[in-house]
Amino acid sequence: MSSLIKSKLKRFFLFVFLLYVARIPTTAASRGPHVINFRSPNLYPEGLAWDPSAQHFVIGSLLHRSLHSVSDAGVAQTLISDSDLPVNVTILGLAIDRTNKRILAVVQSAPPLPTFNALAAYDLRTRQRVFLALLDDSEGESAVKATTTTRHAANDVAVDFQGNAYVTNSAANFIWKVDKDGAASVFSRSPAFRAHPLAVDRNARLSECGLNGIAYVSKGYLLVVQSNTGKMFKVNAEDGNARLVLLTEELVGADDIAIRKDGVVLVASIHTLWFLKSHDSWGEAVVYDKTALEEEKLATSVAVGDNDRAYVLYGHVIEGIMGNVGREEFSIVEVRSSKDSEDENIWLFVLIGLGLAYFLFWRYDGQRGFSVKILGTSGCEKLESSAKGTSYMNEVKLEWVEEEKEKEEETKENDNEGYDDDDHDSDNNDDSNGDNNDDSNDSDYIDEEEENSTEEEAGMARHGTT
Ligand SMILES: *[C@@H]1O[C@H](CO)[C@@H](O)[C@H](O)[C@H]1NC(C)=O
Repeated sequence: MSSLIKSKLKRFFLFVFLLYVARIPTTAASRGPHVINFRSPNLYPEGLAWDPSAQHFVIGSLLHRSLHSVSDAGVAQTLISDSDLPVNVTILGLAIDRTNKRILAVVQSAPPLPTFNALAAYDLRTRQRVFLALLDDSEGESAVKATTTTRHAANDVAVDFQGNAYVTNSAANFIWKVDKDGAASVFSRSPAFRAHPLAVDRNARLSECGLNGIAYVSKGYLLVVQSNTGKMFKVNAEDGNARLVLLTEELVGADDIAIRKDGVVLVASIHTLWFLKSHDSWGEAVVYDKTALEEEKLATSVAVGDNDRAYVLYGHVIEGIMGNVGREEFSIVEVRSSKDSEDENIWLFVLIGLGLAYFLFWRYDGQRGFSVKILGTSGCEKLESSAKGTSYMNEVKLEWVEEEKEKEEETKENDNEGYDDDDHDSDNNDDSNGDNNDDSNDSDYIDEEEENSTEEEAGMARHGTT
């Protein structure tokens, strides 16, 4: 191939590459966030969970002693109605126990109702209650009744792979454990839970609310957030020892926590959904993004739904608590990180670019076999090295891109014969670039040399036969 066309092509690809890097906005065909509005008069749900087997969300209720399913399309149905629970108790945190196919629900009464704290477990198929474990001060089997005057406040629940449940006590800052048979005990009263000053005003809504959202991490520990200090703790699921997770910022007002499959941790308050990552199993963590929530709708819960998407529940609970009742509509809304979607866009551009690259080389290339692979690969390597370490997903996507590329190359090699076209449109692209360095890399293009040598061999072979 003539060096003129070669250098033009190189400039063109440099230009295309710079386009991606500059993230020049194109009509990125991204859908809007998923919004699920549903109707259920006076429900004011606080807790949210995703049931992957049934492919629906499960929510609780402020006063109805009931659990409800909400479909993707916004159809709300009563799942469980338990009239054995005391009148007007609230269903708070929810968790799906996949091992035992149950749903676990924290049940709590708010003043002026008499104190009531419990964990209820229901079979997901029969919808019958499996147990109702009362939660108090008793230390395991000694079953010493509560002697303190603190009003306990069971709040959120997480479940491990055996079906052990861990329930936070927001008022007394400790964690209960309830095994799969419903035996409850105090699990962790770590001094770490009391070692940090309030980060909110004494009169603020959550000033009395300590340990709150809890999630089980598959490696044998729990992550717990504390609303009134904005701290996060890593709690050993064996012995209950807790350590502060060092964060780049305080999560003041943190109410709920959920974990995506890619390891990203989501923490919700009524005003913010925080996106966190850790590279050392939650010794320390970075808040890599935060998305504002609609505060007046009072998000109280976050869950990871289908396709690893984050959803918050807008339950308007405060209206119900204030007795300002009558609301019929509530919503479950997908919340995204702009950082995650930037990553997605970049990769969309890269894929489009790779497709374009193959198309153009195909046109130019003819029998010459110019270095399709080389330019494609070197462009991707640059992206790869700049993307390394910024996101777990990038590496997964890179693998996927590599696979796609290999497939494309295979089909390309099969189709490559006998297409020639003198199209010089790309001339317009390079002049403004004025980058002359690109010609200095010729030695990188090994495949081209290989191509040439195979041509020489072919030529020699031809000579040989004549
Ligand atoms: C339960 O709530 C309803 C509606 O708010 C109220 O009228 C009723 O008195 C409550 N019952 C108890 C036992 O508190």
